Amino acid sequence: MAAIQFTLNGSPRTLDVDARMPLLWALRDTLGLTGTKFGCGMALCGACTVHIDGNAVRSCVTPMSSVEGKRVTTIEGLSPDTNHPVQQAWIEHDVPQCGYCQSGQIMTAASLLEKTASPTDADIDEALRGNICRCGAYTQIREAIHRAAEIRRQQGGKA
Ligand code: FES
Ligand code: FES
Repeated sequence: MAAIQFTLNGSPRTLDVDARMPLLWALRDTLGLTGTKFGCGMALCGACTVHIDGNAVRSCVTPMSSVEGKRVTTIEGLSPDTNHPVQQAWIEHDVPQCGYCQSGQIMTAASLLEKTASPTDADIDEALRGNICRCGAYTQIREAIHRAAEIRRQQGGKA
C-alpha cells in the first residue's frame, strides 16, 4: 500500500492503495466516480479515458503510482455545470445512443480541442481513433466536435 497524493477534479486527494492499482479501479471502486467506464481493461476501447495534466489517457492501464503529484480530471470534473463546449455541443447534436462510450469520447474530444482549436475531420479521426462506439455514433461525434470548436472559439478559446 502507498499513500498517493494527487489532484482530482480540482481538489487535493490522498489515497492509500496498492501503487499498482489501475486509476480506473480507484476512481470507480474507491472513490465512487462511476462516470468513467470500464470497457476492455486493455487500452483498446477508450471508455475509461480521463485527463492527466490535460492529456487524454486510458485509466484502465494507468497505475496509481504514475498519478502521484498529477492533476486528474474525470467527466465529473470537466465542467461545473455540464457547460464545457464539448458537453454543450454533445447535447445540441444529441450524440449519445446507449451512452456507454460517451464519457471517454467527450474527454478525448476535450483534450483534442485544448491542443487543436480548429480540428479537421482528419484530426478528429486521428485523435478519436482509439475510442470505440459500438452504436456507431461516429458521424454525430465528429459533427459535435466541430460545433464544440466553434463554441470554444466564440468564447475566446477558453474551454
Ligand atoms: S477500458 Fe480502458 S481502454 Fe477500454
Ligand atoms: S453510444 Fe453506445 S457505445 Fe457509443
